[in-house]
Amino acid sequence: MSIMTLEQIQAIVATDLHAVEKEMRIAMQSDVALIHDVGQHIIQGGKRIRPLLALLISHLVGETKQPQILLASIIEFIHTATLLHDDVVDNSTMRRGMATANDIWGNEASVLVGDFLYSRAFQLLVSMNEHSLMTILAKAINIMAEGEVLQLMSRHDITHSEETYFKIVHAKTAVLFQATCEMAATLAKIDPHMIKHAADFGQHIGLAFQLVDDALDYQGNVTELGKNIGDDVAEGKITLPLIHALRHSTPEEKQLLTHIIATGELTQLGKVQTIIERHESVIYTLNLARHHQQKAIQSLHSFSESSYKTALIQLAEFILTRSY
Ligand code: IPE
Ligand code: IPE
Ligand code: MG
Ligand code: MG
Repeated sequence: MSIMTLEQIQAIVATDLHAVEKEMRIAMQSDVALIHDVGQHIIQGGKRIRPLLALLISHLVGETKQPQILLASIIEFIHTATLLHDDVVDNSTMRRGMATANDIWGNEASVLVGDFLYSRAFQLLVSMNEHSLMTILAKAINIMAEGEVLQLMSRHDITHSEETYFKIVHAKTAVLFQATCEMAATLAKIDPHMIKHAADFGQHIGLAFQLVDDALDYQGNVTELGKNIGDDVAEGKITLPLIHALRHSTPEEKQLLTHIIATGELTQLGKVQTIIERHESVIYTLNLARHHQQKAIQSLHSFSESSYKTALIQLAEFILTRSY
């Protein structure tokens, strides 16, 4: 099976994705000028992986009508709100190849517009009048918030374990992918076992997605990625490449890493990258991402073959091999 580009996968549900964009633009509307400005800015340039996932799962198990389009839009709104908040917490200045909202309008505006998006997403969800979807999404967002706080507590902790790291990644990223697939499957009212398989697919590609993101933070190409690299170490965020490197470091390397993590001096990023390379820590991270990607694909086993199933497998492949 030849590898498809993200654009080729998107093309399979192009009509639906256009409808999602339209829905989001309508839902973003506000008379408050600042919400309008920040909203216009933040709505551009994302990969739309989560709506794509929602739409592909919807097709896999049924069809895409207005509720499925709305669901995909709601999920992207939640994702966008988390990005606005995340860039404040992480002090990030670049996203999607542009200055972040916090860099342009400040932290206050980013936090408040993030709240606007969260609450608008819930208004839309309530309008769907599907109690089971509200249950899934409310729980997912609460776990995401927990994950962000757990991550905050673990900053600068060089004893940070791989186990805690996975707990954070599961909560802050995988849970939204999981909820996306679970909601799309639930909306189609399929057999609970099949809903579980769809949810497992989402969870595992979500884990793989964040592992790859954490690898890219060390070895990505800034222009392609559209984000600065080294953001994690600058913020004392100890992700898997660094956990692995710390575990295998010589006492001298460990001392150096400890110092850099404490100060967050990005001028020293090259030294961190050298140590990470020596211990093949990015390779280790990507191997674990591959493991979860494979588990994701296995979760699709019980679904009958279709172009949508192929597209989901291709999306899992993109998530692993992506450079942006
Ligand atoms: C970024 O997600 C946040 C993470 C979970 C790593 P994406 O890489 O999907 O962000 P956009 O929407 O494409 O910018
Ligand atoms: C993902 O973590 C954050 C969210 C789930 C919102 P990161 O902090 O690594 O995401 P990026 O790298 O800023 O996109
Ligand atoms: Mg961040
Ligand atoms: Mg990152």
